[in-house]
Amino acid sequence: MYFVAAPNIDTIVSLAKRRGFVFPSSEVYGGLGSAWDYGPLGVELCNNVKQSWWRWLVYERDDIEGIDSSIILNRLVWKYSGHEATFNDSLVDCRKCKGRFRADKITDNKCPSCGASDWTEARPFNTMLQTKLGAVADDDPTALAYLRPETAQGIFINFLNVQTAMRRKLPFGIAQVGKSFRNEVTPGNFILRTREFEQMEMEYFVSPSAEHSKLVDYWVEQYLEWFGSLGITRENLYLYEVPGEELAHYSKRTVDIMYRYFPEREKPWEELMGIAWRTDFDLSTHSKNRLDVDGKRVNPDSTEDLSYFDEPTKQRFYPHVIEPAAGVNRTVLAVMMDAYSERTTDKGETRVILKLSPQLAPIKAAILPLAKNKPEIVGMAKAIKRSLQPLLRAVYDDTGGIGKLYARQDEIGTPFCITVDHQSLEDEAVTVRDRDTWEQERIKVTDLAEHLQKRLKPYTTPSLPEPI
Ligand code: GAP
Repeated sequence: MYFVAAPNIDTIVSLAKRRGFVFPSSEVYGGLGSAWDYGPLGVELCNNVKQSWWRWLVYERDDIEGIDSSIILNRLVWKYSGHEATFNDSLVDCRKCKGRFRADKITDNKCPSCGASDWTEARPFNTMLQTKLGAVADDDPTALAYLRPETAQGIFINFLNVQTAMRRKLPFGIAQVGKSFRNEVTPGNFILRTREFEQMEMEYFVSPSAEHSKLVDYWVEQYLEWFGSLGITRENLYLYEVPGEELAHYSKRTVDIMYRYFPEREKPWEELMGIAWRTDFDLSTHSKNRLDVDGKRVNPDSTEDLSYFDEPTKQRFYPHVIEPAAGVNRTVLAVMMDAYSERTTDKGETRVILKLSPQLAPIKAAILPLAKNKPEIVGMAKAIKRSLQPLLRAVYDDTGGIGKLYARQDEIGTPFCITVDHQSLEDEAVTVRDRDTWEQERIKVTDLAEHLQKRLKPYTTPSLPEPI
């Protein structure tokens, strides 16, 4: 008997397709490069990750509000946020095979497709995805709009709305989860880098005199706790202090939390999320009152001033922002890789067990009849499923022998299998089998809901001291 974590991403790709987590998108037309569709179990897993995040930040804390802003915003948002000018990848073409790559991803000066070293000059390529609004001519430049490349800007432009409506005082945060889009030059590695993806971002607004670097450390610690609560092993996370020359145009300091997505490689780490000190860049750039050194308005298009009046100090200023920005898809992939394990049975067969944290498991309990040709057993099993469903996600399954049914539930991470057998008809009790230990215990049907709820109790992240 032994346990291993996923040896590579491909192992998860095949499990994900086989068991209905993630399918290649548009497969009937040969697929679409980097697009993936979430199946019946994948959508549950994604929803559970997002719910855990929302509950942890918006419900359990007292200093964070949630919003849901538009994906398509006024184009001026992207002009003044700096994205129109600077949200670029540096692009090079291979003169031999005409392949096109991100310059910063080329190692050894060799083309990843043909091995040649004959490159064009690097040039900037803006990665915001464009669209056109309204029934307009193809070449009408006023119709140009972008699909947001980050959810953050929808938060900044609503700072004053939220602060005023919710009567908030600094420090406080605004959280948002939703789709973002980037015209990635080289998408790939399954759901790690796609052109359409989902972000969970939170902008934490603080005074310009706060200890910003300490706050970055504070949020790094908080997120390490949260990832731990999702079952991600600390040894598989690594903190990367982003060097000055790699910082985004708005950041004074960024720490990336990296995950071991490539355990089989010499360089196993890739970014799971980033925590950035965005200074007062965003709120001030969208404000009408901000003046440059010559006394000219920095933003002549804005109709609002997003400054904040601090009652205790009687000062008006643009709050600074600490931003933890995480990807839903990358979290889901990390969770699946970490939960993956294999176990050898007494007969020498290898079984896959997805040891998902119970709060994330797509299905919490599977109700399995030992004999599907016995109407009383089937009836009792279905009745148990219906009685549990209002409390937790439960399924009824009679599509195979009990060994096969257990194996299928282990592979999709269901924490409990509940078997109804002949004895159940007599003693009103069922067998509850634990996914991780395969141990079984007999529980009275009347005690079942309470028993399961106790063992499924969602993990709550222990609070660290309040930030400065
Ligand atoms: N608002 C800051 C921001 O967007 P980012 O580091 O560019 O920062 C944050 O993105 C997170 O969004 C990343 O750490 C990653 O988890 C996720 N992400 C970014 N681009 C992605 C892509 N093309 N595919 C999947 N996830 C992506």
